[in-house]
Parts: sequence; structure tokens; C-alpha cells
Amino acid sequence: MSTAAVEMSIITAPTTLPLIAPSILSADFANLGQECKAVLEGGADFLHLDVMDGHFVPNLTMGEALCASLRKAFPTTYLDAHLMVEQPKSFIESFASAGANLFTGHIESSDDPIEMARAIHDAGMDAGLAINPPTDVEEILPYIEYYDLILIMSVNPGFSGQAFIPEVLEKVTLISERLRPSQRLQMDGGIGPMTVGSAKEAGCDVIVAASAIFSTNDYAAAIEELRTA
Ligand code: DX5
Ligand code: ZN
Repeated sequence: MSTAAVEMSIITAPTTLPLIAPSILSADFANLGQECKAVLEGGADFLHLDVMDGHFVPNLTMGEALCASLRKAFPTTYLDAHLMVEQPKSFIESFASAGANLFTGHIESSDDPIEMARAIHDAGMDAGLAINPPTDVEEILPYIEYYDLILIMSVNPGFSGQAFIPEVLEKVTLISERLRPSQRLQMDGGIGPMTVGSAKEAGCDVIVAASAIFSTNDYAAAIEELRTA
């Protein structure tokens, strides 16, 4: 079990919302430690790690070794692992050991979401459940109560830098009215200064952004703009 995970949870404890989570997918991988330090010093609340397996989505990105390196370099930073993989449940133990604080699997690749939430909590992490744009919101509703965070994808996952799909905002309303005050609603994909307002207005309180932060030369300003826009 990750010791960092049991110390605190930035997502379930009372906190100032929205939370801004840079996705390191658009960072300069040859300079990753410095990139993470820069966004954290620039006001990021935590780091979002996009884990892709080349099967659930057509891309390969990062895994447990990278998570463990970030845990070592940033001992108190909350690490959010977004698993775009087949069989997410089979990665729970290894990401907990690597120091992840939040483990989010997809409804589309989870055959037993209640059991997955239990296993994530047993491993000492917060539990997240994600839904892709084409998936009917009805599929996730029965499982919301078991999770600390629901992630509504606003692009089809696989790559950063894609255009925001506004139709997913309808899901936000339906899900947010079912959440307890300690549960968070995260949106991920195509979020930047032009789209963040509609996401927050609809009820999202955790904002993920990759290109809108890492493509700028002032990370602090980009983060502040996402927080206040
Ligand atoms: C989607 C990933 C996102 C992605 C966001 O495949 O889950 O986290 O990196 O990238 P932007 O913010 O550039 O759309
Ligand atoms: Zn993501």
C-alpha cells in the first residue's frame, strides 16, 4: 500500500474548488522532473498521469515506473493515475505500490465496477470511474456512489490536443446532481481558456489540461486562467 495515499486526499477533503490537474502527457518527457516542478510551483493542485496500453486506446504512454519516479521526486504531491487500459483492475496493486493516490479506470473496460472500487480503496487509493464521450450516461449511474471521483471524458481518449466535444456537458448535469459533497467531478480533454467556463458552469470541479498548459511559456498564468476563467 502506498504510504503517501493514506496521508491525505486532496479530492475528498474540504478544499477550494476547482482543482487544476495538469496532464503530463504534453510535457517535455526529456525534462519531465523540471516540467512537473514548474507546474506545481505554478499553482497546479496535483499531477494527472495518462496511462495508455495501445489496446483500449491507440497509443502507448507511461506506466508504474514513471509513477514511482514521480512519487520519489515529489513525496507530498497527489498523483492521479488515469488508466486508459483493458482490465484496469489488474493494475491496482502495482499503481498503489508506485505511490498513486487516485486510480481511475474506465466503465468501458471494467466488468465489475463495484468490485474495482472496493479493490482500489483496499489498496489505499481514492477511486475514480471514467466515461468516454460515446458511452450512454445511464451505464455509469449505478456505480457513482462507490467512487470518490467521476471523470467525464470530453475527447475520445488517446491523444492530447484534440477538440472539446460539447455534447458531453449534458452528462455533467445528470451526474452532478447525484454526487455527495465529498465526491468530485473531473473533466478531461480539449479544455482550455475557451472551453473551461462551460465545464465549470455545468458542475465540474476538477479540470485536467495538457496542451493548454504545456504549450504555453507561462505555466502559472495558464493554470490561473483555467482556475478563474
Ligand atoms: C486524453 C487524455 C487527456 C489528454 C488531455 O486522451 O486522457 O488527459 O492528455 O489533453 P488536452 O488537454 O491537450 O486535450
Ligand atoms: Zn487523462
